[in-house]
Amino acid sequence: ASDGRVERIASSIRAIPNFPKPGILFQDITTLLLDPQAFRDTTDLFVERYKDKDITVVAGVEARGFIFGPPIALAIGAKFVPIRKPKKLPGEVISEEYSLEYGTDKIEMHVGAVQPNDRVLIVDDLIATGGTLCAAAKLIERVGAKVVECACVIELPELKLTHATMRISCMNKGQMN
Ligand code: PRP
Repeated sequence: ASDGRVERIASSIRAIPNFPKPGILFQDITTLLLDPQAFRDTTDLFVERYKDKDITVVAGVEARGFIFGPPIALAIGAKFVPIRKPKKLPGEVISEEYSLEYGTDKIEMHVGAVQPNDRVLIVDDLIATGGTLCAAAKLIERVGAKVVECACVIELPELKLTHATMRISCMNKGQMN
């Protein structure tokens, strides 16, 4: 039961037209962060969903997965692992390339941060095409760990890429699904 929390979260997110380029309606979660109750409710809803799922790692996707991931990790007693844009992590990395509308992008994770016996929750603010979360799931599966689910606050109706084992939960449709 979300008891009105999802509605408050949804209404705290600001949509900005034509950012970062013309035609894009940018979903801005910085206004959610300005409402401490909405921010708390966001992490609480995920914690309620995942606290008894034996999650050992919360993997946050740069950049806004670094905002929502750590409070969830702390609350469920899991490690936090950052999945970063290229050339940001100082240690040895494994990387996964994924396609964008024009060109490709890449994400990286430290070797050894996730172990084969880990049960991983991937966190990001938003899923649009699904390319980023798919690439993150592939990284984690490549080291032999299990992706239990992907959690994101906002789902845009653009989802094209799916991944066989990828289950997604999000909370912008009036209730968490
Ligand atoms: C946004 C968003 C997700 C990704 C979703 O990140 O935070 O990470 O796009 O898009 P997709 O489902 O089509 O892959 P962005 O590219 O804006 O990078 P940033 O978080 O570093 O600003």
